[in-house]
Amino acid sequence: MEKIAYVNGSYVPHSEAKVSVFDRGFLFADGIYEVAAVLEGKLIDNASHLARLKRSVGEIQLALPETLERIEEIQKELVKRNDLVNGMVYLEVTRGADKGRDFAFPKAEANVKPTLVMFTSEKDIINAPSAKTGINVITVPDIRWERRDIKSVALLAQVLAKQAAAAAGAGEAWMIEDGKVTEGGSSSSFIVTQDDVVVTRQNGNEILPGCTRKAVVKLAEERQLRIEERAFTVEEALAAKEAFITSASVFVQGVVAIDGKKVGNGKVGPITDRLREIYVEFAKATAV
Ligand code: PDD
Repeated sequence: MEKIAYVNGSYVPHSEAKVSVFDRGFLFADGIYEVAAVLEGKLIDNASHLARLKRSVGEIQLALPETLERIEEIQKELVKRNDLVNGMVYLEVTRGADKGRDFAFPKAEANVKPTLVMFTSEKDIINAPSAKTGINVITVPDIRWERRDIKSVALLAQVLAKQAAAAAGAGEAWMIEDGKVTEGGSSSSFIVTQDDVVVTRQNGNEILPGCTRKAVVKLAEERQLRIEERAFTVEEALAAKEAFITSASVFVQGVVAIDGKKVGNGKVGPITDRLREIYVEFAKATAV
Protein backbone atom coordinates (compact mmCIF):
# COMPACT_ATOMS: atom_id res chain seq x y z
CA MET A 1 0.00 0.00 0.00
CA GLU A 2 1.24 3.44 -0.88
CA LYS A 3 2.37 5.60 2.03
CA ILE A 4 0.34 8.59 3.13
CA ALA A 5 1.58 12.16 3.47
CA TYR A 6 -0.14 15.19 4.96
CA VAL A 7 -0.41 18.28 2.74
CA ASN A 8 -2.27 21.37 3.92
CA GLY A 9 -5.16 19.65 5.65
CA SER A 10 -5.40 16.48 3.53
CA TYR A 11 -3.99 12.99 3.93
CA VAL A 12 -2.91 11.86 0.46
CA PRO A 13 -0.85 9.04 -1.10
CA HIS A 14 2.78 10.06 -1.70
CA SER A 15 2.22 10.11 -5.48
CA GLU A 16 -0.42 12.79 -4.98
CA ALA A 17 1.46 14.81 -2.37
CA LYS A 18 2.21 18.06 -4.20
CA VAL A 19 2.80 21.76 -3.61
CA SER A 20 2.92 24.68 -6.05
CA VAL A 21 6.06 25.60 -8.03
CA PHE A 22 5.42 29.07 -6.55
CA ASP A 23 5.84 27.74 -3.04
CA ARG A 24 8.40 29.92 -1.28
CA GLY A 25 9.98 26.82 0.18
CA PHE A 26 10.79 25.72 -3.39
CA LEU A 27 11.76 29.19 -4.69
CA PHE A 28 13.68 30.61 -1.72
CA ALA A 29 14.06 27.81 0.86
CA ASP A 30 11.78 30.12 2.88
CA GLY A 31 10.74 27.48 5.37
CA ILE A 32 11.48 25.51 8.50
CA TYR A 33 11.56 21.78 9.13
CA GLU A 34 11.70 19.27 11.95
CA VAL A 35 12.43 15.55 12.15
CA ALA A 36 11.12 13.54 15.10
CA ALA A 37 11.96 9.89 15.63
CA VAL A 38 9.31 7.21 16.10
CA LEU A 39 9.94 4.17 18.29
CA GLU A 40 7.33 1.46 18.67
CA GLY A 41 4.73 3.74 17.08
CA LYS A 42 5.40 6.67 19.41
CA LEU A 43 7.02 10.08 18.90
CA ILE A 44 10.36 10.64 20.62
CA ASP A 45 11.19 13.87 22.49
CA ASN A 46 8.49 15.59 20.43
CA ALA A 47 7.86 18.46 22.84
CA SER A 48 11.47 19.49 22.32
CA HIS A 49 11.11 19.34 18.51
CA LEU A 50 7.87 21.34 18.61
CA ALA A 51 9.44 23.96 20.90
CA ARG A 52 12.33 24.34 18.44
CA LEU A 53 9.84 24.55 15.55
CA LYS A 54 8.07 27.40 17.32
CA ARG A 55 11.37 29.18 17.92
CA SER A 56 12.59 28.69 14.32
CA VAL A 57 9.38 30.02 12.73
CA GLY A 58 9.47 32.97 15.15
CA GLU A 59 13.02 33.81 14.05
CA ILE A 60 11.88 34.09 10.41
CA GLN A 61 8.58 35.84 11.26
CA LEU A 62 6.47 32.96 9.97
CA ALA A 63 3.18 32.14 11.72
CA LEU A 64 2.40 28.43 12.07
CA PRO A 65 -0.83 27.51 10.27
CA GLU A 66 -1.80 25.15 13.12
CA THR A 67 -1.25 25.07 16.87
CA LEU A 68 1.54 22.87 18.20
CA GLU A 69 -1.13 20.61 19.76
CA ARG A 70 -2.79 20.18 16.36
CA ILE A 71 0.58 19.55 14.69
CA GLU A 72 1.26 16.76 17.15
CA GLU A 73 -2.18 15.29 16.44
CA ILE A 74 -1.37 15.27 12.72
CA GLN A 75 2.03 13.67 13.37
CA LYS A 76 0.31 10.92 15.37
CA GLU A 77 -2.40 10.44 12.77
CA LEU A 78 0.26 10.06 10.08
CA VAL A 79 2.12 7.46 12.16
CA LYS A 80 -1.17 5.58 12.50
CA ARG A 81 -2.19 5.83 8.85
CA ASN A 82 1.22 4.54 7.76
CA ASP A 83 1.35 1.78 10.40
CA LEU A 84 4.73 3.21 11.29
CA VAL A 85 6.52 1.27 14.02
CA ASN A 86 10.08 2.62 13.85
CA GLY A 87 11.24 5.58 11.84
CA MET A 88 10.72 9.30 11.57
CA VAL A 89 8.15 11.96 10.93
CA TYR A 90 9.38 14.82 8.75
CA LEU A 91 7.50 18.09 8.87
CA GLU A 92 7.99 21.26 6.93
CA VAL A 93 6.29 24.62 7.02
CA THR A 94 6.95 27.27 4.40
CA ARG A 95 5.74 30.82 3.80
CA GLY A 96 3.36 29.41 1.19
CA ALA A 97 2.76 29.98 -2.51
CA ASP A 98 2.23 33.51 -3.78
CA LYS A 99 1.43 34.38 -7.42
CA GLY A 100 4.99 35.00 -8.53
CA ARG A 101 8.49 35.40 -7.18
CA ASP A 102 8.84 38.36 -4.86
CA PHE A 103 11.66 38.17 -2.33
CA ALA A 104 9.79 40.17 0.30
CA PHE A 105 7.04 38.41 2.27
CA PRO A 106 3.61 38.17 0.60
CA LYS A 107 1.39 41.16 1.41
CA ALA A 108 -1.28 40.61 4.05
CA GLU A 109 -4.07 41.29 1.52
CA ALA A 110 -2.79 38.44 -0.70
CA ASN A 111 -3.85 36.14 2.12
CA VAL A 112 -1.13 33.59 1.36
CA LYS A 113 -1.37 30.62 3.73
CA PRO A 114 1.75 28.84 4.96
CA THR A 115 2.30 25.39 3.49
CA LEU A 116 2.39 22.53 5.98
CA VAL A 117 3.64 19.16 4.81
CA MET A 118 4.46 15.99 6.73
CA PHE A 119 5.52 12.50 5.76
CA THR A 120 6.99 9.46 7.48
CA SER A 121 9.90 7.17 6.70
CA GLU A 122 10.88 3.83 8.16
CA LYS A 123 14.15 3.29 9.99
CA ASP A 124 15.18 0.84 12.67
CA ILE A 125 17.32 3.32 14.62
CA ILE A 126 17.76 0.98 17.59
CA ASN A 127 19.15 -1.93 15.56
CA ALA A 128 21.11 0.05 12.96
CA PRO A 129 24.38 -1.88 12.39
CA SER A 130 26.36 1.38 12.65
CA ALA A 131 25.25 1.72 16.28
CA LYS A 132 27.64 -1.17 17.02
CA THR A 133 30.38 -0.51 14.48
CA GLY A 134 30.42 3.28 14.68
CA ILE A 135 30.95 5.50 11.67
CA ASN A 136 33.82 7.28 9.97
CA VAL A 137 33.48 11.00 9.46
CA ILE A 138 35.25 13.34 7.08
CA THR A 139 35.86 17.04 7.69
CA VAL A 140 34.74 19.81 5.35
CA PRO A 141 34.76 23.60 5.64
CA ASP A 142 31.56 24.98 7.17
CA ILE A 143 30.24 27.17 4.37
CA ARG A 144 26.81 27.86 5.88
CA TRP A 145 25.13 31.17 6.75
CA GLU A 146 25.31 32.80 10.16
CA ARG A 147 21.95 31.66 11.58
CA ARG A 148 22.49 27.92 11.89
CA ASP A 149 20.39 27.96 15.05
CA ILE A 150 17.33 28.21 12.78
CA LYS A 151 16.23 24.83 11.41
CA SER A 152 15.88 26.20 7.91
CA VAL A 153 15.22 24.06 4.83
CA ALA A 154 18.16 25.83 3.12
CA LEU A 155 20.38 22.77 3.33
CA LEU A 156 22.60 23.02 0.26
CA ALA A 157 25.80 23.25 2.30
CA GLN A 158 24.78 20.11 4.20
CA VAL A 159 23.78 18.34 0.98
CA LEU A 160 27.28 18.98 -0.41
CA ALA A 161 28.96 18.04 2.88
CA LYS A 162 27.02 14.79 3.23
CA GLN A 163 27.53 13.93 -0.43
CA ALA A 164 31.29 14.36 0.06
CA ALA A 165 31.01 12.04 3.08
CA ALA A 166 29.00 9.47 1.12
CA ALA A 167 31.49 9.60 -1.78
CA ALA A 168 34.31 8.96 0.71
CA GLY A 169 32.42 6.04 2.27
CA ALA A 170 31.91 8.01 5.51
CA GLY A 171 28.73 8.25 7.56
CA GLU A 172 28.83 11.96 8.34
CA ALA A 173 30.74 15.16 7.59
CA TRP A 174 32.00 17.34 10.43
CA MET A 175 31.99 20.97 9.44
CA ILE A 176 34.97 23.11 10.42
CA GLU A 177 35.06 26.85 11.01
CA ASP A 178 38.04 28.83 12.34
CA GLY A 179 39.81 25.56 13.07
CA LYS A 180 36.98 24.23 15.28
CA VAL A 181 34.27 21.66 14.64
CA THR A 182 30.84 23.29 14.47
CA GLU A 183 28.66 20.19 14.01
CA GLY A 184 27.82 17.36 11.63
CA GLY A 185 25.89 17.80 8.39
CA SER A 186 22.78 16.58 10.19
CA SER A 187 23.95 15.89 13.73
CA SER A 188 25.61 17.37 16.81
CA SER A 189 29.28 16.49 17.48
CA PHE A 190 30.78 15.25 20.75
CA ILE A 191 34.11 13.98 22.05
CA VAL A 192 35.12 12.30 25.30
CA THR A 193 38.54 13.49 26.51
CA GLN A 194 41.25 11.28 28.06
CA ASP A 195 39.98 12.29 31.51
CA ASP A 196 36.39 11.35 30.63
CA VAL A 197 34.99 14.83 30.08
CA VAL A 198 32.18 14.89 27.50
CA VAL A 199 32.70 17.93 25.27
CA THR A 200 30.22 19.42 22.82
CA ARG A 201 30.06 22.86 21.28
CA GLN A 202 27.96 25.43 23.16
CA ASN A 203 24.68 26.51 21.59
CA GLY A 204 24.72 29.78 19.67
CA ASN A 205 24.20 31.00 16.11
CA GLU A 206 26.98 28.69 14.86
CA ILE A 207 25.06 25.43 15.40
CA LEU A 208 21.57 24.01 15.52
CA PRO A 209 20.49 23.45 19.13
CA GLY A 210 20.02 19.69 18.79
CA CYS A 211 17.10 18.19 20.70
CA THR A 212 19.04 14.94 21.16
CA ARG A 213 22.10 16.94 22.23
CA LYS A 214 20.02 18.74 24.83
CA ALA A 215 18.59 15.49 26.24
CA VAL A 216 21.98 13.74 26.24
CA VAL A 217 23.68 16.65 28.04
CA LYS A 218 20.95 16.66 30.68
CA LEU A 219 20.99 12.86 31.12
CA ALA A 220 24.80 12.85 31.37
CA GLU A 221 24.75 15.62 33.99
CA GLU A 222 22.13 13.77 36.01
CA ARG A 223 24.50 10.81 36.08
CA GLN A 224 27.39 12.95 37.30
CA LEU A 225 29.33 12.73 34.04
CA ARG A 226 31.47 15.80 33.50
CA ILE A 227 30.26 17.94 30.59
CA GLU A 228 31.97 20.90 28.96
CA GLU A 229 30.08 22.95 26.40
CA ARG A 230 32.80 24.47 24.24
CA ALA A 231 34.24 24.25 20.76
CA PHE A 232 36.94 21.66 20.02
CA THR A 233 39.42 21.09 17.19
CA VAL A 234 39.87 18.01 15.01
CA GLU A 235 43.28 17.49 16.66
CA GLU A 236 41.59 17.36 20.05
CA ALA A 237 39.02 14.91 18.68
CA LEU A 238 41.80 12.69 17.33
CA ALA A 239 43.51 12.78 20.73
CA ALA A 240 40.22 11.98 22.51
CA LYS A 241 39.16 8.61 23.94
CA GLU A 242 35.85 8.61 22.14
CA ALA A 243 33.76 10.64 19.74
CA PHE A 244 30.09 10.46 18.84
CA ILE A 245 27.22 12.25 17.16
CA THR A 246 23.61 12.75 18.20
CA SER A 247 20.43 13.38 16.21
CA ALA A 248 16.82 12.32 15.99
CA SER A 249 17.74 9.98 13.14
CA VAL A 250 20.60 8.11 14.87
CA PHE A 251 20.15 8.94 18.61
CA VAL A 252 23.73 8.46 19.86
CA GLN A 253 26.21 7.03 17.40
CA GLY A 254 29.93 6.38 17.84
CA VAL A 255 32.53 8.00 15.57
CA VAL A 256 35.55 5.70 15.16
CA ALA A 257 37.63 7.61 12.61
CA ILE A 258 38.02 11.18 11.35
CA ASP A 259 39.51 11.72 7.89
CA GLY A 260 40.80 8.15 7.96
CA LYS A 261 42.54 8.49 11.35
CA LYS A 262 41.37 6.41 14.31
CA VAL A 263 39.67 7.98 17.30
CA GLY A 264 40.82 6.19 20.48
CA ASN A 265 41.17 2.49 19.74
CA GLY A 266 39.00 2.76 16.63
CA LYS A 267 35.98 1.17 18.36
CA VAL A 268 32.80 2.64 19.79
CA GLY A 269 33.70 3.64 23.35
CA PRO A 270 32.03 2.70 26.65
CA ILE A 271 30.78 6.23 27.46
CA THR A 272 29.20 6.48 24.00
CA ASP A 273 27.56 3.07 24.49
CA ARG A 274 26.32 4.06 27.94
CA LEU A 275 24.91 7.39 26.73
CA ARG A 276 23.15 5.62 23.87
CA GLU A 277 21.58 3.18 26.35
CA ILE A 278 20.52 5.98 28.67
CA TYR A 279 19.09 8.01 25.79
CA VAL A 280 17.07 5.07 24.45
CA GLU A 281 15.71 4.46 27.96
CA PHE A 282 14.72 8.13 28.24
CA ALA A 283 13.23 8.09 24.71
CA LYS A 284 11.02 5.10 25.43
CA ALA A 285 9.97 6.38 28.84
CA THR A 286 8.89 9.80 27.49
CA ALA A 287 7.49 8.77 24.07
CA VAL A 288 4.02 10.06 23.16
N1 PDD B 1 19.09 16.87 11.52
N2 PDD B 1 22.74 19.69 13.61
C1 PDD B 1 22.21 19.73 12.37
C2 PDD B 1 22.84 20.61 11.35
C3 PDD B 1 21.08 18.94 12.07
O1 PDD B 1 20.53 18.99 10.85
C4 PDD B 1 20.53 18.09 13.07
C5 PDD B 1 19.32 17.25 12.83
C6 PDD B 1 21.14 18.08 14.33
C7 PDD B 1 20.62 17.24 15.46
O2 PDD B 1 19.41 17.74 15.96
P1 PDD B 1 18.32 16.79 16.64
O3 PDD B 1 19.03 16.07 17.72
O4 PDD B 1 17.31 17.72 17.14
O5 PDD B 1 17.82 15.85 15.56
C8 PDD B 1 22.24 18.90 14.57
C9 PDD B 1 17.90 16.14 11.14
C10 PDD B 1 17.78 14.82 11.82
C11 PDD B 1 17.84 16.04 9.64
O6 PDD B 1 18.15 17.05 9.01
O7 PDD B 1 17.46 15.01 9.09
